[in-house]
Amino acid sequence: MSILLLYYFLTNLLSYTYIQHPWLIEAKTRTNDGFSIDLFHRYYSPKSPFYNSSLSPKELFQRLVLSSNSRHRQIIWQQSNIGEVSTNLIPNEGDYLMQISVGTPPVQLVAAAVTASDLTWFQCIPCVLCYPHNTTNFDPQASRTYMNLPCDAEHCTNLNTDHINCDQNENLCRYWYTYGNATTITGGVMGTDTFSFTSFDGDEEQAAFPSITFGCGYQQAGLFDSNSAGVVGLGNGPVSLVSQLGPSISYKFSYCLTYPSSHSASKLRFGGMLEDTSEIGGLTLTTPFVTNDPSSSYSLVLNGISVGQMNLNMDKEIIIDTGTTLTYIDPSIFYNLEAMVNDAIGASPVSNNPLVEPVLCYGPDDAALNPPDIVFQLDGGDLVLKACNIFFVLDDYVCLSIAKSPKDGDPMVLGNMAQTNLDIEFDLLSKTVRLTPKYCSQETS
Ligand SMILES: *[C@@H]1O[C@H](CO)[C@@H](O)[C@H](O)[C@H]1NC(C)=O
Ligand SMILES: *[C@@H]1O[C@H](CO)[C@@H](O)[C@H](O)[C@H]1NC(C)=O
Ligand SMILES: *[C@@H]1O[C@H](CO)[C@@H](O)[C@H](O)[C@H]1NC(C)=O
Repeated sequence: MSILLLYYFLTNLLSYTYIQHPWLIEAKTRTNDGFSIDLFHRYYSPKSPFYNSSLSPKELFQRLVLSSNSRHRQIIWQQSNIGEVSTNLIPNEGDYLMQISVGTPPVQLVAAAVTASDLTWFQCIPCVLCYPHNTTNFDPQASRTYMNLPCDAEHCTNLNTDHINCDQNENLCRYWYTYGNATTITGGVMGTDTFSFTSFDGDEEQAAFPSITFGCGYQQAGLFDSNSAGVVGLGNGPVSLVSQLGPSISYKFSYCLTYPSSHSASKLRFGGMLEDTSEIGGLTLTTPFVTNDPSSSYSLVLNGISVGQMNLNMDKEIIIDTGTTLTYIDPSIFYNLEAMVNDAIGASPVSNNPLVEPVLCYGPDDAALNPPDIVFQLDGGDLVLKACNIFFVLDDYVCLSIAKSPKDGDPMVLGNMAQTNLDIEFDLLSKTVRLTPKYCSQETS
């Protein structure tokens, strides 16, 4: 108890020192400049703590499909806002990880980069109930610049009250999230600290940002896929990291995802788009995004899907998510799409599927399979999903990375396979997403 009091006393003391000496927070933040970091794939990158070199390509794809389905179930549940459901959910923050340094002295953490959520959180020490993983946890007591977030702080009141319990006596902003039927829970205390990134725009450079609000998770209980030590929220709400970095990155970020099995790192850039010469040629498309509370995800307006000359009209929204592997659409739309794809390929999907439902695979005996590009008609123009990105090759099969949702009306999601080889820039001020075809793996790092 006394140690705890001493700790809070010291933290407060430090926090005052911190505020009174602006030189301490001398911002290395450069306006309108921006910085880039690597994103690496959870299963395919040797830099990932979850990399397993003995998995076969088929095992990797099976794992991706299962994990994608579980991520989609989580999005359905989060968006439905129906509270408890009868089944359990395994929290799944998706495929792309980033390194981020937190605190003074900085501690390097690995977290999932997620566009479909706002809250950034890390598993913290001392952990009451933590799920096992092989990455570092953050120790706030070891950081000179860490402060707990007081109850009346803007970012505490900004969080959805369903997730906040502010204890006025302690003046601590506590948060928690439950999953599914609430047997899985993650929670902790909101705090602020310095975030720093090693940027690789040409020269290696550090970009440091003081007083960023995040959740320090002290309690994780239930079923966890031991997937990461935390989450970096890139959503469009006020607590998201993008909103917090705000003016110093012109309220913009972009990423360029490489195809997972290419084994080369993807890029995440804060600030304006990186100019380089690897554009494929093909039009840049600018489309408005729609905000979907409560998750602060980005949704695009989808007016139609076409394959060759065949066209399906619709009036739908589709969430653009870095965390989900596959693209999910309503079953009623999917059956029509399947018919168009069958027609273009000149074959039907195999019944002895090498993967799990709901993925369709073609081959292996249909000689010279020639899968088509698939066009998503967005507000503002056509997004051409190249066959080489939207289909993947598994043994002698060619499988479609667009799948059907459990039922019509479930949130539709544009997954990360469909987003490969596109530079995708989010501008929170103009509320637009700009998509430019690009060879993401050819960028120098
Ligand atoms: C890696 O994959 C192999 C093959 O599936 C499996 O036997 C092994 O347990 C995995 N190792 C880890 C650390 O998960
Ligand atoms: C939550 O769902 C799981 C899986 O369906 C079940 O085993 C568990 O008993 C449920 N827990 C509660 C509290 O309903
Ligand atoms: C975690 O690390 C231990 C020791 O290095 C290793 O035996 C284990 O396989 C790792 N687990 C995972 C999931 O990578």
